Amino acid sequence: MDRSEVLELSEVSKTFMGGGEPVSVLKELTWTVRRGDTIAIVGPSGIGKSTLLHVLGALDRPDRGRLLFGGRNLFDLDDAGLARIRNRHMGFVFQFHHLLPEFTALENVMMPARIAGMGIREARERAKALLDRVGLSHRLGHRVPQLSGGEQQRAALARALVMEPPFLFADEPTGNLDIENSHNVHDLLLEIHAERGCALVVVTHNMDLARMMQRQVTLMHGRIAEVCPSSLHI
Ligand SMILES: Nc1ncnc2c1ncn2[C@@H]1O[C@H](COP(=O)(O)OP(=O)(O)OP(=O)(O)O)[C@@H](O)[C@H]1O
Ligand SMILES: [Mg+2]
Repeated sequence: MDRSEVLELSEVSKTFMGGGEPVSVLKELTWTVRRGDTIAIVGPSGIGKSTLLHVLGALDRPDRGRLLFGGRNLFDLDDAGLARIRNRHMGFVFQFHHLLPEFTALENVMMPARIAGMGIREARERAKALLDRVGLSHRLGHRVPQLSGGEQQRAALARALVMEPPFLFADEPTGNLDIENSHNVHDLLLEIHAERGCALVVVTHNMDLARMMQRQVTLMHGRIAEVCPSSLHI
């Protein structure tokens, strides 16, 4: 497999100081995610799911350890270097959309492509096609506050996909949505995975979504532990 299709955390540790007590969230954790994988990260609040996703997606640096991608350790890069890698290879969807409120849906989706240096025409065409794909072709010119919660989350998904990243990460992508909108976003995530063959790593408390993934993992003593899907409760 191409080296740029594998992300590998190696001996990663991260400890937070909170209230004077150190909290060791990740402890010499080693884990590989490959293009094509679909993985749910589940487990109780505070166990370290978001921390793990943020380190895996190079949004956050650990205290120790490496993130190997394309034959190098991404944590050797400076912040601008990391931002470039994220822009080109990783898409993120969060519980709250993180769209820029003063811009329209179309402008928000175009933004990562423009940052990557893509011409305005191509960026606009890609963004339009993606907004169409997530059912928002009638909302291109709406600013973020003029979109419903479900529409905002679908726009955020379109934005995450505009650079066609091989790795798509989502942290509670439907934690803020009602059941119908949640199903809609779940279906979209799986369809996009099927179409593109990207990796899909989702932190979720939604066991329906977790069961749709090939693998379910949690954190135990700061390391990855596989979860048996039949043990997942709604
Ligand atoms: N910036 C920080 N400073 C101090 N402690 C932190 C910080 N970020 C996270 N923590 C602690 O690290 C632990 C793991 O946090 P994390 O956000 O990864 O949990 P989580 O599994 O995503 O929880 P949830 O399901 O509630 O989102 C928690 O105990 C949290 O209090
Ligand atoms: Mg979290």
